[in-house]
Amino acid sequence: METKPSVIFVCGTRPDAIKTAPAVLAFQKHANVVDTVLISTGQHREMLAQALGSFGLTADVDLEIMTPGQTLAMVTSRALEGLDQVFEKRKPAMVFGQGDTTTTFVAGLAAFYRQIPFGHIEAGLRTETVWNPFPEEFNRRAVAMFAAQHYAPTEWSANNLRQEGVDDSSIFVTGNTGIDAVQMISEQAGPDWYSDWTGRVVLLTTHRRENWGAPQQQIARAARSLVEAHRDVKLVVAMHRNPVVRETLVAELGGVPRVELIEPPDYAPFVHLIKRSSLILTDSGGVQEEAPSFGVPVLVLRTTTERPEGVDAGTARLVGTNENDIFEAADAILSDPAAHAAMSRAVSPYGDGKAGDRIAAAALTYLGITP
Ligand code: UD1
Repeated sequence: METKPSVIFVCGTRPDAIKTAPAVLAFQKHANVVDTVLISTGQHREMLAQALGSFGLTADVDLEIMTPGQTLAMVTSRALEGLDQVFEKRKPAMVFGQGDTTTTFVAGLAAFYRQIPFGHIEAGLRTETVWNPFPEEFNRRAVAMFAAQHYAPTEWSANNLRQEGVDDSSIFVTGNTGIDAVQMISEQAGPDWYSDWTGRVVLLTTHRRENWGAPQQQIARAARSLVEAHRDVKLVVAMHRNPVVRETLVAELGGVPRVELIEPPDYAPFVHLIKRSSLILTDSGGVQEEAPSFGVPVLVLRTTTERPEGVDAGTARLVGTNENDIFEAADAILSDPAAHAAMSRAVSPYGDGKAGDRIAAAALTYLGITP
């Protein structure tokens, strides 16, 4: 019996899982001609399984590399060895990775070493410096050097690749799979967050390495001043599992009235929490993309963004990590309904929800597989 070719999708962190799922589901529609295998490095233990579960997916193989307080080098070396063994055994026709995490960089590197074509989902995002976000900017630039196909979410990201000399025929503007994901999930019923609270909800998330320490302290202090200045506001802090991040947030915001420090919700409830929010303060890339779909204004707690489309559309603003700057920007939006309304248009600059199908179509053509 002739065996079908197989493709491998690699994920390891929560955003990898959320944004890989739509492409995996799109490939699974072609199960008669290709086997779709999902590998988790296990860079994240709890947060990954939750996220995959929201889409009814589980990893076929889990390398379980996570150790508490892991360094980037530990993630890299453990994942590289594990993936190499999987690629050797399964001999995939193509490997896919998403975005800019260390798992994605390593998936690309392992595929490169074995000369297996690599498809990069969410390709072409760029800031001006390889040092920010750290180490993500390096990760996504590195895989662009050898990817066989680059799935750019927007024209802007496709242009970044063209300017770097990437062959146009390998670039596909697909939209961001994160929009496919958010659309799938928001159709599901979700919890009625804080239904007993008649006031407003401001949602805060912060986890980025370049914000660890003093910047995160400033972010937390700005948020604290904000709830103190606006008595109708409940501040909800969805705390990342990283112990470094939690320490700062608990120290600065623990026990403050109208501040809820919560565990990171599963993806589906989190999407409903976004919808419940009047304003979001975040340094997350994915949240920047999701919030405009629901018309929720976003203040980006970073000095650079590789996602300028939301800023251009007027639904996001880059405010940096200075305490006063954050407070003033947020206070202005919460104090002035017109300012809030101006940032609340529901737009979707990042995609139309069909990215997964476009990726599957491009990759199957590349592999010479007829659906
Ligand atoms: C990683 C990604 C980042 C992504 C983020 C999303 C890299 C370098 N960074 O950052 O791009 O935006 O994920 O969440 O790839 N932990 C747990 N359980 C979990 C997850 C994490 O306990 O389910 C703790 C562990 O102590 C772990 C620490 O969090 O050591 C940090 O995890 P790590 O993957 O190294 O970095 P993140 O900060 O999560």
